[in-house]
Amino acid sequence: MAPPFRFEVVSLLPKSFETLDDLGVVGRAFSSKIAELRVHNPRDFTSDRYRKVDDEPYGGGAGMVLKPEPVFAAFQSIPLNGRRRVLMMTPQGKPLDQKDLYRWSIEHDQLIILCGHYEGFDERIRTLADEEVSIGDFVLTGGELPAMVVINGVVRLLPGTVGAEESLLEESHTDLLLEHPHYTRPSDFQGMEVPLVLKSGDHGAIATWREKQRQLRTKKQRPDLYSRWLLKQQSSQSKINQFLGDSVKIRIGNGYDIHQLVPNRALILGGVKLAHPDGLGLEGHSDADVLAHAITDALLGALALGDIGKYFPPEDPKWKGADSLFLLEKVVALIEESGWKVVNVDAVIVAERPKLKPHIDLMRNKLAERLGVEVESVGIKATTNERLGPEGREEGISSHAVALLARL
Ligand code: ADE
Repeated sequence: MAPPFRFEVVSLLPKSFETLDDLGVVGRAFSSKIAELRVHNPRDFTSDRYRKVDDEPYGGGAGMVLKPEPVFAAFQSIPLNGRRRVLMMTPQGKPLDQKDLYRWSIEHDQLIILCGHYEGFDERIRTLADEEVSIGDFVLTGGELPAMVVINGVVRLLPGTVGAEESLLEESHTDLLLEHPHYTRPSDFQGMEVPLVLKSGDHGAIATWREKQRQLRTKKQRPDLYSRWLLKQQSSQSKINQFLGDSVKIRIGNGYDIHQLVPNRALILGGVKLAHPDGLGLEGHSDADVLAHAITDALLGALALGDIGKYFPPEDPKWKGADSLFLLEKVVALIEESGWKVVNVDAVIVAERPKLKPHIDLMRNKLAERLGVEVESVGIKATTNERLGPEGREEGISSHAVALLARL
């Protein structure tokens, strides 16, 4: 497992962060070591008898100002990671949005969060921050609640948290639109009925209804987001059109991957864990699901977007042991964001052993779910290499895939 994502908060109210442990997904991420939180109190870094952290402002005026020395000392006590980011919570910062949370979760593994307090802080504290962040146009008594907002929002995007898979997918193709309405039983609650389409079992009609609802809801509640969304639709559409001409409605892609067979590793193909008769598994940085990788490359290839290594570099510890179906899902989201959808994929696995046939349907189901297509649109075949070559000598297992995309 990747080392925990580290949140280091500099705050005069360390106790406020204890509530995070009780916050469902966030609490579990801490207890399962996906993330880790440390709070550094500037008051512990004072040198005077009164442990003074604030002082009167130069030039006069109401209120007290947070002194620079204890904050600098608390900050300097934090061991810094190479991929750190220092945030300062202040109502004067740039308004926080989902893209920031996503960016920090992907590009960094240590977030240092400085919480302002009192009436203000000494201007020189600002020099510590890479970014100043506000959670909205209102003023709170300190940066603690805003810091918790950031921690909550980043944690749910980390691989391995419950929300991560679905939310990443959501974010990339939400693309500015708000969520559609949700309903559960009862079907009629105090005269308010669940829309018929949701009970129809017609997945196509449900998807269309949800998409429409998202647009309507965004237009009504957030006209600002809606106009940005409209603009983006038009510009991505015209970029693709310029490139391809209007007539091209489908694109095809090809993917190939091979991984070494070694002892003491899991053997996962299409998200299905298998048992090799000699206990071998596939070597790799992620879970080494060679089938999922070939399909992911085929999808990227269809839009000439490069390969899986470009988006999930093996040097990045974040993807160590990653679930490849999760990566596949992210690529599907990227494709949809570019204005395309998956029509079908077809893949072949080249493996001498174990027997794959009994597991093919489960692989197809798992892949179809992540690809957002019916299982009939996922073809998987398995073949041996007649004892020839690396696959035949059981040095590795390879996979080839093709994918067809259509314009959304
Ligand atoms: N500190 C006080 N108010 C704040 C806000 N709105 N955003 C970030 N930090 C703050």
